[in-house]
Amino acid sequence: MKNIDDCFSKMKCRPPRAWTTVLLCVLIAGRLVEAIELVCSSLLLGTGVAALGRKLYHYLYETCNKNWLNFNVTGLKNDLNTKLYGQHVAAEVIIKAVTGFMNNKTPKKPLVLSLHGWTGTGKNFVSQLIAENIYEKGMTSNFVHLFTATAHFPHEAHIDSYKTQLQEWIRGNVSICPRSMFIFDEMDKMHPGLIDSIKPYLDFYDNLNGVSYRQAIFIFLSNAGGENIVQVALDFWRDAREREDIQLKDLETALSLSVFNNKNSGFWHTSLIDKNLVDFFVPFLPLEYKHIIQCGLAEMVSKGHVPDKEVVETMARDLNYFPKEERVFSMKGCKVIPSRLDFYI
Ligand SMILES: Nc1ncnc2c1ncn2[C@@H]1O[C@H](COP(=O)(O)OP(=O)(O)OP(=O)(O)O)[C@@H](O)[C@H]1O
Ligand SMILES: [Mg+2]
Repeated sequence: MKNIDDCFSKMKCRPPRAWTTVLLCVLIAGRLVEAIELVCSSLLLGTGVAALGRKLYHYLYETCNKNWLNFNVTGLKNDLNTKLYGQHVAAEVIIKAVTGFMNNKTPKKPLVLSLHGWTGTGKNFVSQLIAENIYEKGMTSNFVHLFTATAHFPHEAHIDSYKTQLQEWIRGNVSICPRSMFIFDEMDKMHPGLIDSIKPYLDFYDNLNGVSYRQAIFIFLSNAGGENIVQVALDFWRDAREREDIQLKDLETALSLSVFNNKNSGFWHTSLIDKNLVDFFVPFLPLEYKHIIQCGLAEMVSKGHVPDKEVVETMARDLNYFPKEERVFSMKGCKVIPSRLDFYI
């Protein structure tokens, strides 16, 4: 029997032509499969890496999706019921308004809330609670924007450039994330022209220059109407009626008299009210001694102390209350507690 090497060396045992072709084909096919496998695995690896990169990006950097933006209705209810003191009317309106809006897949306009009340009664605090239950990053989210009239728009002479900047800011940010939140603090100190300039965004338009504002949330904060709300609460107190029996309808008249009919109020100058662009006017009641105690105890916990009622009561007794004779309501609400408490701990 011939040895195969012998065959090839002597070129006598040349394999038949068909056999060579088959061999060649197998060889080429093998290489081809290898090459395809290589491309496929690189592609797969590439897609895998890209997907992982995308996941990591969405995980690390805030994006306008449900990883970062997810309404927690139970959380909001719980926060308003346990962390916000003495504001049963505001809590109820806020829960209804925000839940209704967030559950509506096709709202006809953005949500516009106007929060009114005496100083230190929780208007900014409530805005913060709303933000924390919608955005993973709460107030520090890139989709939550806080403007303070005196800080951001201080000079009347620059009103035209403020208008352009503000409109651009709103338009740009809603284009990036339709579920953006804009909080306007000291709304009663905002120039009426500036309020007018944001009016189109609050309206029922399907879209403005290709941008829809219907998913956005606007919150206005002001002390406008605060004195009239105090009067209602004081009347209840003097009549020995329960504070918890005060209803929204008892305060609505107080609000409308002071906010809508006041010629000095920023709102009055604009057609925000005439055009029904504000969905809910939310009244904040003045806070009493017992609420100051609650705020004080909560503040001690947040400062990392064991809550001590005696310490908090000493502090609360030293605060100022009004009216002078009856000392019913805290002059500064709960606002001064974080700084005051340090003296008593
Ligand atoms: N009703 C409340 N329940 C619990 N904490 C409160 C309440 N009101 C105020 N606080 C506490 O006091 C702090 C200051 O209140 P906040 O800034 O919300 O007052 P405000 O109503 O916005 O006052 P202003 O009209 O002066 O701006 C809050 O961060 C919160 O810790
Ligand atoms: Mg405030």
